[in-house]
Amino acid sequence: MQLNRKDFPEDFLFGTATSSYQIEGHAFGGAGRTHWDDYADTPGNVVRAENGATACDHYHRYAEDLDLVAAAGFDAYRFSISWARVLPEGRGTPNREGLDFYDRLTDAMLERGLKPYATLYHWELPSALADLGGWRNRDIAHWFGDFTETIMRRLGDRIDTVATINEPWCVAWLGHFLGGHAPGLRDIRAAARAMHHVLLAHGRAIEVMRGLGMDGLGGVFNLEWAHPADDSEEAYEAAARYDGIYNRWFMGGVFKGQYPDIVLEGLAPHMPEGWQDDMGLISQPLDWCGINYYTRKLLAPAKGPWPSLQEVRGILPKTYMDWEIYPEGLLNFLERTASEYTGDLPIYVTENGMASHDDPVAGEVQDEHRIAFIEAHLADVRRALARGVPVKGYFVWSLLDNYEWSFGYDKRFGLVHVDFDTLARTPKASYHALKRALTGE
Ligand code: FCB
Repeated sequence: MQLNRKDFPEDFLFGTATSSYQIEGHAFGGAGRTHWDDYADTPGNVVRAENGATACDHYHRYAEDLDLVAAAGFDAYRFSISWARVLPEGRGTPNREGLDFYDRLTDAMLERGLKPYATLYHWELPSALADLGGWRNRDIAHWFGDFTETIMRRLGDRIDTVATINEPWCVAWLGHFLGGHAPGLRDIRAAARAMHHVLLAHGRAIEVMRGLGMDGLGGVFNLEWAHPADDSEEAYEAAARYDGIYNRWFMGGVFKGQYPDIVLEGLAPHMPEGWQDDMGLISQPLDWCGINYYTRKLLAPAKGPWPSLQEVRGILPKTYMDWEIYPEGLLNFLERTASEYTGDLPIYVTENGMASHDDPVAGEVQDEHRIAFIEAHLADVRRALARGVPVKGYFVWSLLDNYEWSFGYDKRFGLVHVDFDTLARTPKASYHALKRALTGE
């Protein structure tokens, strides 16, 4: 890797990210059942019907894992808190073991000089709340607020930043319209409600944490650059609808208190009554904005009901997720976010990375492709900085190979290889390259 720490501003943070269900091992420590367990148990949803029961067993191996984060020279560690580990029924009596685990984990970060970057929801909704309609039910904003209060009363004094909900598009649209994530619905009314309630819950959690006197509060959005597949007006419109649903709905709601008209055209008839009155709570001031960026999409019109669009396969080199590699999209989003939505607010790239095969050969994993991917995206972060965008940090997804949702354990995103039979960790070449870039060693 040619770039190193000195190529970035002195206060620029480097980190790596994970999430609870993907690494912890949900069978351990008294965690409650989640809708991802239900989704995975339903044939056809997840490759080999795999779930997060054991995952990387981070629940027992977190000390070793945090040693790896610290040894690589990272400044911060982005992790998430499982709602069902803290409140197995989603509400009511907390699981003491769960609270103690996040307490130990936070202290273990601080002991190693790592800044804790917490996320409150990275997708494992307690099944007991799914029974009540989950994200379709407006009450989820209050359930989420109560969970936030429970965990932040315990950790809030030691956490650097808190993000509310990881990637609201995945929670709402992927889970309720496309059916590709739990709860696996394909229903426009459910989707419209989830699109709104996910931001209402975000707003309620911010209100609760402000009430506890906390700052460092933000939101994490996954953005996908939308290109028209050809020069036709129809393709431009399809790309604009995709951009609206994927990106602008959430940024507009949170930073302007407004949903884009291009999306309301399709969703307004399905929205919960009185949604307009919630926009103030949804758009409370934040302290930072997080962007997760992986790829772009090419869009064309399609017959059939709104949003009447289809994805077209692009020609750029692709990762093992079949996602095109398009670092310029990150630059575009950093500039657009600052100029249209967040102004001077600090922006963090809270996830960026790639999946590949990564089999160890003679105890080593030579993932040069990942080094090139990270370096290309970091180069665009530098371009954004040079153009005055207040980017304050960059987190690699992910520390470990882990449970990649509906793709199971096949798609390896880690800087560190995990053997899912023995759970042995092997740092890949990309880990060593980043370590050299960050520590000079
Ligand atoms: C993001 C998710 C993360 C992981 C990466 C590859 O959308 O936040 O959990 O699945 O994609």
